[in-house]
Formats: sequence, structure tokens, C-alpha cells
Amino acid sequence: MTKVKIVFASITGNDEDIAYVLTEKFEKLGCDVDMSEVSQTDAADFEDSDICIVASYTYDQGIVPDEALDFYDDMKDLDLSGKVYGVCGSGDTFYEDFCRAVDEFGKVFDDVGATRGSEPVRVELDPEQDDIDHLDNFADEIYKKAREMDL
Ligand SMILES: Cc1cc2nc3c(=O)[nH]c(=O)nc-3n(C[C@H](O)[C@H](O)[C@H](O)COP(=O)(O)O)c2cc1C
Repeated sequence: MTKVKIVFASITGNDEDIAYVLTEKFEKLGCDVDMSEVSQTDAADFEDSDICIVASYTYDQGIVPDEALDFYDDMKDLDLSGKVYGVCGSGDTFYEDFCRAVDEFGKVFDDVGATRGSEPVRVELDPEQDDIDHLDNFADEIYKKAREMDL
């Protein structure tokens, strides 16, 4: 069974909602899914998974949320070659750097050898129906990529 690890960073619940949407979707696809909050998660958990997902909000201070900083730094020491990843998150287009943390996590995944399964999904505040459709498609593409890689 394909193993999926979903890690989220969320203060007001939007990214937690995104993580739930993805959990349900990957479960429907028949995957074994584990979801957890970033400050409660060991980055090395990604090494035990086939598909690695980060859903993070963005604040205009710091590259990634404060509580995600240790996790983000620890990710840089992993070898995630042979894994498929996806990054997504909620932001607010009011800010200049819309959803920047999503891109920062994507860069680290690229640096540690993971394969991008789908383009990032950026959600304006809380996920609405069209965002949920994008997230479903995101999960479908990532799952397809994992199957192509025999994961
Ligand atoms: C102080 C503050 C700074 C923020 N800075 C940014 C930003 O730079 N870029 C962005 O896209 N969103 C920014 N946001 C918006 C949040 O990312 C957005 O509200 C998001 O939905 C929060 O996700 P959560 O509900 O998972 O905590 C900011 C919000 C606050 C309150």
C-alpha cells in the first residue's frame, strides 16, 4: 500500500482543512495516510513514506512559519530520492509574497532529491469548492506519479 505522510502548519485552521481534504482523497485512492501538525512531527518521517506532502500557511516574517523552522531545517539533511512530493498551502493575496512558504518547502524537496508529483496548489484563505477540486487533482497527479515509480 502506498504510504502518504501529510504535514501541515496552521494557525487559524485553513491549512489543517487542506490537510484533511488531502487525507480523505488519498484514502479514497487506497493509500495508507498519516497526517500531523508540523511542530509535532519528525522530518525523518518522510523517509518512511512514499508520498510526502506539506501544507503550510505563509506569514510575512521568516521564510516558513516559526513553528515549522526546525522541521524545515531538518528536511535539508534528508535523502528523499525515490519519493514523490507535493506542496500546497493557504495565503492571502493581500500580501506581496503570496504563499511563499509553499515555494520554500518545494525548493527543499527539490534539493533533497524528491520528485515533484504535481504543481503546487495555492489557496486563497479557506479552501472553497474550486480549491477542493484543485486539491483532488493535485492528489490524483501525485498518486499517478508514485505509481509510475512503482511506489
Ligand atoms: C500577520 C500576518 C502576515 C501574513 N503574511 C502573509 C504573507 O506574507 N503571504 C501570504 O500569502 N499570506 C500571508 N498571511 C495570510 C495567511 O497566510 C492566511 O491567513 C492563511 O490562510 C493562514 O493559514 P492557517 O489558517 O492555516 O493558519 C498573513 C497573515 C497574517 C495574520
